[in-house]
Amino acid sequence: MESTAAGTKPRFSLARVRNHWYVAATSAELKSNKPIPRVIFDTPLVLFRDESGTATALLDRCAHRNVPLSLGRVREGRLICGYHGWAYDGAGVCRDVPALSGDATGRARRVKRFPARERDGFIWVFMAPDDEPAVEPFELPHLADRRYTTVRHAVTVPATLHATLENILDVPHTAFLHRGLFRGGRRHPVTAVVRRTADRAEAEYVGEPRPAGLVGTLLSPTGGEIEHFDRFILPSIAQVEYRLGERNHVVVTSALTPIGDFETRMYAVATFRTVLPDRLMKAILTPVGIAILEQDRRMLRRQTESVRRFGGEQYVSTDVDLLGPHIWRLLRQAERGDPPTEDVFERRVSLLT
Ligand code: FES
Ligand SMILES: [Fe+2]
Repeated sequence: MESTAAGTKPRFSLARVRNHWYVAATSAELKSNKPIPRVIFDTPLVLFRDESGTATALLDRCAHRNVPLSLGRVREGRLICGYHGWAYDGAGVCRDVPALSGDATGRARRVKRFPARERDGFIWVFMAPDDEPAVEPFELPHLADRRYTTVRHAVTVPATLHATLENILDVPHTAFLHRGLFRGGRRHPVTAVVRRTADRAEAEYVGEPRPAGLVGTLLSPTGGEIEHFDRFILPSIAQVEYRLGERNHVVVTSALTPIGDFETRMYAVATFRTVLPDRLMKAILTPVGIAILEQDRRMLRRQTESVRRFGGEQYVSTDVDLLGPHIWRLLRQAERGDPPTEDVFERRVSLLT
C-alpha cells in the first residue's frame, strides 16, 4: 500500500454506528435445527432459533474453549457446541455441560447475547449488546399492501458502507455506468431539493422527466413527469422512490450491513405497483435490476481497490454529489453519539439528468 503525501492523514470514510439494527440474515436462511454464522462490524455472530422459534444472536465463541458455536447444532431450542457439547439457551446461558455432574449454570458459563428481532422477512441484530435498543428496526414500506409486488435480492459489495450508500443514491453515475438500462438519453435540467434532518438526508427531484432507458420505459410507457426521492436513513438504509401518477409507484429499499470496513452486504427489497401486469414487471425488472447492481458492484470493487492501493481516499466533490457528504456527516455524528440536531438543512441544486 502506498503512503499518502507527507503530512496528510490517510482518510477512509469509515463510521461504525454500533447502537443500531442491521440485517444479519433473511428469515428463510435461519432454520430451526441449524445455527448460522454471520459477521457484522468484524464481530462473529451465531444465529439460531430457541425453543419458541425466536431468532437469537450470540457471540460466535464458546465460553469453554472459544470454538465457533456456529459449528454446532440446535437441539430442543438450545445451541450445542460441537466440541464438548455445552448447551446454551436463547439468553446465552450455558444450561448443560454433558460431562459435569451438578448445576451447569454459572456466571462465567455464558456468551454475550445481542438483541435480535425478526421482522419483514429479515433477522435484525442490534450491534451494541450492552445497550438497551432505544429504537426498533427500520420498517419496510408496502409489504402488507396487496396492491404491491415485492422482489428481494441480496448481494455482497466489496466497499465501505459509505461508498455503497452513496452509490445507491447517486444519480449522475447512472447515465454513464448504466447507460441504456437506466438513463443515458438526452440530458434534462432538473432541480434537486436536498434536505438533511436528524436521522436522514434526502434529495427530491423536481421536474424530472421519465428516465430514459429500459427501466424508465417499463415504469411509464407513456412518459410524463415523475416524483423522485433518494433517501438515506440512519444508520444504513438507502431508499429510492419513484411515483408517476396514481398507478405507478416503485420503492427500492436497501438495508445495508457492514460485514467489515470494506465489505457490505446489501439486502434490497423492491416494492412496486404499475399499470403493467405484476408478473410481467417482475419477470423483466428482476434481471435488469440485477444487471444494474452487478455493474455497481464491479465499479465499487475497483473504487475500493484504488482507495486502498493509494492508502486512503482523496475525494473531490461538486454540487451534484448531492448526498454523499450528508451521509458521511450523519454517520459520523451517530458514531460519536452526538445529540440529534433539530436543524433542517435545505438547499436547491440544479443538475442535468
Ligand atoms: S469448546 Fe465449546 S464445549 Fe468445549
Ligand atoms: Fe448504480
